[in-house]
Amino acid sequence: MTENVLPASELYTDEFAADPYPAFAKLREDSPVCPVTSPRFDSFLITRFDDAKAALNDPRLSKDLYGPEQHFLRIFGPNSEAINKNMLNSDPPEHSRLRRITSRAFAPRRIEALRPRVAEIVSELLDKVVPQGQADLMHDFAIPLPMMVISELLGIPTADHDQVLAWTQVIRESGSSGRPPAEERAAVQEAQLQLHHYLADVIQAKRAQPPADDMISSLIEACDQDGQLSERELVSTTFLLLFAGHQTTADFIGNAMVALLTNPEQLDLLLRTPELLPSAVEELLRFDGPLPVASPRIATEDLEFRGVRIPAGSIVGVAINAANHDPEAFADADRLDLSRERGPHMGFGHGVHYCLGVTLARIEAQIGIGALLRRLPGLRLALPVEELRRLPAASPFRGLIELPVRF
Ligand code: HEM
Repeated sequence: MTENVLPASELYTDEFAADPYPAFAKLREDSPVCPVTSPRFDSFLITRFDDAKAALNDPRLSKDLYGPEQHFLRIFGPNSEAINKNMLNSDPPEHSRLRRITSRAFAPRRIEALRPRVAEIVSELLDKVVPQGQADLMHDFAIPLPMMVISELLGIPTADHDQVLAWTQVIRESGSSGRPPAEERAAVQEAQLQLHHYLADVIQAKRAQPPADDMISSLIEACDQDGQLSERELVSTTFLLLFAGHQTTADFIGNAMVALLTNPEQLDLLLRTPELLPSAVEELLRFDGPLPVASPRIATEDLEFRGVRIPAGSIVGVAINAANHDPEAFADADRLDLSRERGPHMGFGHGVHYCLGVTLARIEAQIGIGALLRRLPGLRLALPVEELRRLPAASPFRGLIELPVRF
């Protein structure tokens, strides 16, 4: 690493967890392609919108972190490949093949048909919340909603939803339990392993039954009949869909509600003009998305970005939330403006790894946030915003551990 190196411990502070945007603004200004060091790995962080877009489109930045440099094996351990080597961590042509097969199982017909079921799940969750006059919107709503939707879509038996949720929560909340980091890592690896075994068992059980109309069954068909998917890819794709399908949406709904409740004039605008909801969801995602930095890339050759040399083999992070606040790309970028012209924000990524679940995410966020505002009149935070418990700054996700509210 060269000059202007930023230790990760100076970037990922408690202040950053509470509000990363001042630090992102400084980086965009002073060091838009910034070398960051940490005890586990060194990387470069890209924070300007144009650079972020170019980087996410650059085939020289590989997603195959199990490739020659074996970065993921070193960071996440030998068991991680079975579960992580999926489309998100592959390059074309493997990526194109895995994405094509999964897109078929993720057919728009199947997703659009989910609208009434999403509305039903939202109603059921809120029926329990409404009489209480108070709630923890993360545990009572934002986490279970996408978890139930993706579990049903995949065909995970209802009786197992709570156990699956418990494993995914260990992974999501890692770093926030106060236990030593090595213990935390071991707990995450154990939860991943359990989930891996569980998904492999579900797949075997489904094979023994007549094919059902769910995504796991479609993927099994691609594996068994067409031979387009290996057994390991089948399990790791199921894991990716399960995890990507709820983690980001849960955190997004939580962040969006905080943004609305701390910007009362914008909340009021949305209450008066509910037809703004679809564009409001896009603005809320630009304003405070759940994935601050896209999943890591690796330079396959020596690169230069904005005059900074990135040697082959380096890990590169593309800071989506920094790019989404770039004043060069968005006027008054730090302001939440629900009537903003719908612009090309980067909340769902860019390039070949652009979010596969975008339609589902929008359906869940629009129906979920709309129902929260309709059914919980007088909604307000039960704690000052600074006191909300958040995922740690170093978490790959930006989200809340709890969101206590009253109404
Ligand atoms: C990829 C964001 C919901 C499935 C991505 C990426 C982003 C993203 C930024 C690209 C990551 C990268 O390039 O490193 C979001 C947000 C969501 C959301 C903000 C909710 C608000 C969902 C849902 C699903 C899903 C509901 C459903 C299963 C995926 C998959 C990929 C992906 C499979 C990998 C695509 C590929 O590698 O080609 N998402 N996502 N996402 N997302 Fe989402």
